[in-house]
Amino acid sequence: MIARVLSSAVIGIDAYIVEVEVDISQGLPAFSTVGLPEGAVRESKERVRTSIKNSGYHFPSDRITVNLAPADTKKEGTAFDLPMAIGILTATNVIPENPGKKYLIMGELSLDGLIRPVKGVLPVAVTAKESGLDGIFLPVENAMEAVVVKGLNVYPVNTLSQLVGILSGEKNATPFISNFNGLFENREMEIDFSDVKGQDNVKRAMEIAAAGNHNIIMIGPPGAGKTMLAKRIHTILPDLSFEEALETSKVYSVMGLMPEGKGLITTRPFRAPHHTVSDAGLIGGGQNPKPGEVSLAHNGVLFLDEIPEFKKNVLEVLRQPMEEGYVTITRANSSVTYPANFMLVAAMNPCPCGYFGSKKRDCHCSYTQIQRYRTKVSGPLMDRIDIHMDVPAVEYKDLSAKGDGKSSKEILQNLKKAREIQKDRFKGLKIHNNANMTGRHIKKFCEIDNDSDRLLETAMEKLGLSARAHSRILKIARTIADVDGSEKISADHVAEAIQYRSLDRKVLK
Ligand SMILES: Nc1ncnc2c1ncn2[C@@H]1O[C@H](COP(=O)(O)OP(=O)(O)O)[C@@H](O)[C@H]1O
Ligand SMILES: [Mg+2]
Repeated sequence: MIARVLSSAVIGIDAYIVEVEVDISQGLPAFSTVGLPEGAVRESKERVRTSIKNSGYHFPSDRITVNLAPADTKKEGTAFDLPMAIGILTATNVIPENPGKKYLIMGELSLDGLIRPVKGVLPVAVTAKESGLDGIFLPVENAMEAVVVKGLNVYPVNTLSQLVGILSGEKNATPFISNFNGLFENREMEIDFSDVKGQDNVKRAMEIAAAGNHNIIMIGPPGAGKTMLAKRIHTILPDLSFEEALETSKVYSVMGLMPEGKGLITTRPFRAPHHTVSDAGLIGGGQNPKPGEVSLAHNGVLFLDEIPEFKKNVLEVLRQPMEEGYVTITRANSSVTYPANFMLVAAMNPCPCGYFGSKKRDCHCSYTQIQRYRTKVSGPLMDRIDIHMDVPAVEYKDLSAKGDGKSSKEILQNLKKAREIQKDRFKGLKIHNNANMTGRHIKKFCEIDNDSDRLLETAMEKLGLSARAHSRILKIARTIADVDGSEKISADHVAEAIQYRSLDRKVLK
């Protein structure tokens, strides 16, 4: 007879139902899996055979064929161990067939029949719910991930024999109940902008960046606090919506990186890959494609510290995600898409020695060295960074000052208005914030009066700003006006925006 058990596999960050069909027929003892099993799935046979025996059941010495349908997509990972074992035990009548109920089963088996955690449970649970299944049997460790999906019965199981008992009607299945109510706990972060003394201008630039979702690069000498500031930017970004949290969490679930005891990522991620990261590590890839840092930063912050140190080809691959908000990884006969919508925060020294422009130490770099260092970050990437901010070393009087600077909470409060304004402005359009504006939008939404126009013209000439600086300045001025709650962009707003294009200025040495 043929037994059928439902399970699931993941492509990208979405799951689809896989039917595990088990046929046992007479013939020489054999055990084969078909339906494009890869790596760990091919090895399942050994774990399934041993765990069935060690759980005290008979393993048939006939011809066993397992088909994973649909048979034309590659299956990976260890989650098919459990459905295969249940299929075999159903085909040998240890478990009665129960065609009325539809359950999804997933889990890795250890040789003694214990059920071990697997990757990708969150997207699988979403699919199980969408397919109208009655519930999901899964490893205890993964229960928190699945229970995030409302209205799905989640049954954690410890051992193969426990599940056999449940499916045979000898044991009761108790659904997992969590106290997760679909709402996030209050944001409580261990770090705060008030930890950073002084640097009011930089904090202001970060506030503007966060308000309009602009990418930002900080330029300053070692020890100025660039890393410290960058680590705090997500404390002033808005809370994740449930949909955003679900999408980001799917990436972590597929990678098996969900923090222990958590079913959902509830705060915006902050990812800071080292400059030795490979292009596959950054945007995803590998033989069996996996999401990279840009997807782990989805709906959060990607921080590239010491950005000129990154390999040029690695920075080049950032173009697609920065333009489109997702990455596509193409293989010989398939392609996978991962979400990758992040805010880029970068940091660099002003020159190779780090002290160009510093009041405290002399810079020994030549003009050409400085130029070469700065052009290490390619034009197309720099084109996507709206705000350049100089971060001078903190003055001793600021460092030793008592009392805190502006807190993240205060800044966040101030930003709310600006975000509402943008929501209204872009209603019905495909973009959501000022940073997304293209030429057409800038023309429509960033009109400036004659005074501001003259100011901008003079600044461009005096500071030697490039043409590309022009539209950036208008975009930033729009955000500054929004933070001010002003519909009109004033000369003050433009003047402040000009401050945020320091890398476009000529290097004077
Ligand atoms: N504005 C500041 N307020 C408080 N501490 C600071 C400030 N700037 C720098 N520091 C201290 O100096 C250390 C080095 O700063 P860091 O962020 O690593 O500098 P950078 O990345 O610019 O080299 C920080 O860990 C922090 O202890
Ligand atoms: Mg640093």
